[in-house]
Amino acid sequence: TAFRGACVTEKRVGLLKPLLKPLLSLSLVFASFLMIHKLKVAEKDAVGLKPVRAETWCGSDCFSFKKPFMKPGPGSDPPPAGLDGAPRVSNGTPASWDAQVLNCSEDGSVRTKDWFRRLDPRFHQFVLHRHCRYFPMIINHPEKCADGRARLLIVVKSVIEQHDRREAVRQTWGREHTAEDGTAIRTLFLLGSPTTGKDTKNLQKLIEYEDRIYGDILQWDFMDTFFNLTLKEVNFLKWFHIYCSDVRFIFKGDDDVFVNTRNLLDLIRFKVDERQDAELFVGDTISKAIPIRNRQSKYYIPKELYDKPYPPYAGGGGFLMSSPLARRLFAVSEAVQLYPIDDVFLGMCLQKLSLSPELHPGFRTFGISRRRVSPMNHEPCFYKNLIVVHKLSAQELLHMWKVVHKQDLVCAHRTSV
Ligand SMILES: *[C@@H]1O[C@H](CO)[C@@H](O)[C@H](O)[C@H]1NC(C)=O
Ligand SMILES: *[C@@H]1O[C@H](CO)[C@@H](O)[C@H](O)[C@H]1NC(C)=O
Repeated sequence: TAFRGACVTEKRVGLLKPLLKPLLSLSLVFASFLMIHKLKVAEKDAVGLKPVRAETWCGSDCFSFKKPFMKPGPGSDPPPAGLDGAPRVSNGTPASWDAQVLNCSEDGSVRTKDWFRRLDPRFHQFVLHRHCRYFPMIINHPEKCADGRARLLIVVKSVIEQHDRREAVRQTWGREHTAEDGTAIRTLFLLGSPTTGKDTKNLQKLIEYEDRIYGDILQWDFMDTFFNLTLKEVNFLKWFHIYCSDVRFIFKGDDDVFVNTRNLLDLIRFKVDERQDAELFVGDTISKAIPIRNRQSKYYIPKELYDKPYPPYAGGGGFLMSSPLARRLFAVSEAVQLYPIDDVFLGMCLQKLSLSPELHPGFRTFGISRRRVSPMNHEPCFYKNLIVVHKLSAQELLHMWKVVHKQDLVCAHRTSV
């Protein structure tokens, strides 16, 4: 297949200059984390209330940490004109997250079912808690879109432990800024709570501290497990509906992908020009997939759980959707039973709307080449022409971003894969 990506040769300077700052701040996070750990604080009261929390956590100490890093870097949005920075809720009504009670006791009635007894035990937990959909928020950012300027919202699925990936994303494709064409980009990371058995308390403090520095974490009070990924999907759709529905486009992706932000913006511009932006859902679409029955696979689904071909769906590694469609998805998702694979779940929701995701060859969430060791997977020109490429470490992402944005990288206008 061939993708005719625009081989843009404009200047791109200063992208990696801010690199030192976050690195420094991360080491500070760890250093101060040890310190904070010793402070006796009323965490529970503070959770979710950012300005208040800053005080209760470390009093005047906070300031010395917060000051240098809270300032947006060069190229960030100028302050919103005429709004005095006051938060605004788009439709005038006070909007808030209404899932306050963590009520996720298991649904015991399932245990008596015949199919449940035959079901692979790995799925028991999922099935027993399947009815629990919305969870309380631990870290929220109601102000993220409040100035009404955000046009593209980038949301990234992550887990607490992957701070280096978040760091790399912030420095590359997830950098909040206003693009040359005026598109204001905002970024959020979607997280659950630490799974039990790990150093739960310290991990939680770490993520709250990271959020104090960057202000880009949304965290819900559900265990961050693989089968709970769909909870990120539905809780985000609800969040978006409440706090950010004025934004025009949402790019949703994993924290281990490379995104060519410029090509993504080109695609958005093209769709807007062609008036194809209302019902937009574009990605690496698979049309005739069937559930994987190989028990060894991460994506194994037993017959007891699902026994049909999958509806067309876009790989969850990275896809683009328009805001009107996201709102419709939210509405319809409430009538769709949760499914352990999040991208398939969205496919089910789309099917309910009689829509299917559009296939775009620039989205390579299943890899550039199906051959994993293909040298193509390290070829900068492919990254320059594509929109999303999956499975890069934080280091690979930083490196590839640098190479792709080098002015002297010469690529043919057409690259075949
Ligand atoms: C919690 O959920 C269970 C089952 O869904 C229900 O029976 C119970 O009343 C709920 N409790 C609260 C406090 O909402
Ligand atoms: C998902 O999270 C909820 C809330 O923390 C938990 O009760 C449930 O067991 C989790 N499900 C899976 C499959 O991990």
